Amino acid sequence: MRILVTGGAGFIGSHLVSALVDRGHDVRVLDLLVPQVHGDAAPDRLPAGAERIQGDVSDAEAVRRALDGVEAVFHQAAEVGVGQSMYEIDRYVGANTFGTAVLLKALVERRDDIAKLVVASSMSIYGEGAYSCTSCDNGGREFVSPRARPAAQVRARRWEIGCPHCATGTLAPIPTPEAKPLFPTSVYAITKQDQEQLCLTVGGAYGIPTVALRYFNVYGDGQALSNPYTGVCAIFSSRLLNGQPPLIFEDGQQSRDFVHVSDIVQANLAALERDVNMPTGINIGTGVSTSVIEVAELLAEGLGEDPGVEIVGQYREGDVRHCFADISLARGVLGYEPTVSLKEGIPELLAWVREQSAADGTPQALAELTSRRLVW
Ligand code: UD1
Repeated sequence: MRILVTGGAGFIGSHLVSALVDRGHDVRVLDLLVPQVHGDAAPDRLPAGAERIQGDVSDAEAVRRALDGVEAVFHQAAEVGVGQSMYEIDRYVGANTFGTAVLLKALVERRDDIAKLVVASSMSIYGEGAYSCTSCDNGGREFVSPRARPAAQVRARRWEIGCPHCATGTLAPIPTPEAKPLFPTSVYAITKQDQEQLCLTVGGAYGIPTVALRYFNVYGDGQALSNPYTGVCAIFSSRLLNGQPPLIFEDGQQSRDFVHVSDIVQANLAALERDVNMPTGINIGTGVSTSVIEVAELLAEGLGEDPGVEIVGQYREGDVRHCFADISLARGVLGYEPTVSLKEGIPELLAWVREQSAADGTPQALAELTSRRLVW
């Protein structure tokens, strides 16, 4: 097939492009090559066979050109920093929400030729994950679905969430199913919800088979190490490469579901190849929860570095406490099965990290967020 990958020069996009080229597809990449992600160097991770167009998904003309002759689209282009989205509000909404609108408008014109649209959604749209109360029946519900932690609680440095249904219970995280209500807590998360719902709604209305994949926390080789607003595995790796301790927000016990980029590729290929008809996004994670401090320790140990960790004990605005995936829907509709555990994926990531040099942008990012009271 002739396939367009928006954001195809990025971390996830470039892995996906390589896999599609390997399968014999004719792949075109539309990517703005944002300097914060790519630095000044031209992307060298794309296979020679991929056609490249440097352009913006918000540019209708560039999108139309990129769609010429295309039969399937993977929409991966997005600004990705949760913290940064809280002050670059217009840039995030422009690139993510408006960019998706422009892409969809062009896709509608070509709807009869498009066999599949796959959009990268995110676990961040849930806000807090699903929980179960340790002392009540979850208020009669299957799970507790808390809102963001109130500022007063965070100010008191009480990081865990109390049960909203009983006075005494504490909440324990459980796998988050797709049915959990969406309470996005950052501008980034709102734009990801927009991307997912715009694609599913417009795709549904015009008969374009559309699949939305809710990625959990993706890591792997090729993640932009010098971008201080990228994911925590890359940020910690670049700190350690520079002999610095990882900076840890809250108390480090907050947890995420870290999924290797090869499993994200697996899910995307299945979404292309299978007949999927899902009106919501599908979780793509591992179903395993790992704390942020554990990740820092695994990385330091793997690199043979021992600078310790610096627990800043502060809150980054927009962060949730715990969220990990229930992947039963992905197993059922995509035949998806995660293949790389964090224990296997980290050595592989570090084999790549050791070959890199990275600027440590954490102090600057922290200063920017603190001056805007987005870390407090
Ligand atoms: C990440 C992705 C987002 C993706 C989502 C779900 C990035 C920038 N964000 O958001 O695109 O949609 O996963 O897959 O890749 N932390 C520290 N110290 C640091 C940096 C982070 O303690 O220096 C903590 C944060 O406070 C947070 C956790 O690590 O509690 C995870 O942060 P991050 O990697 O930014 O992930 P998400 O915000 O979950």
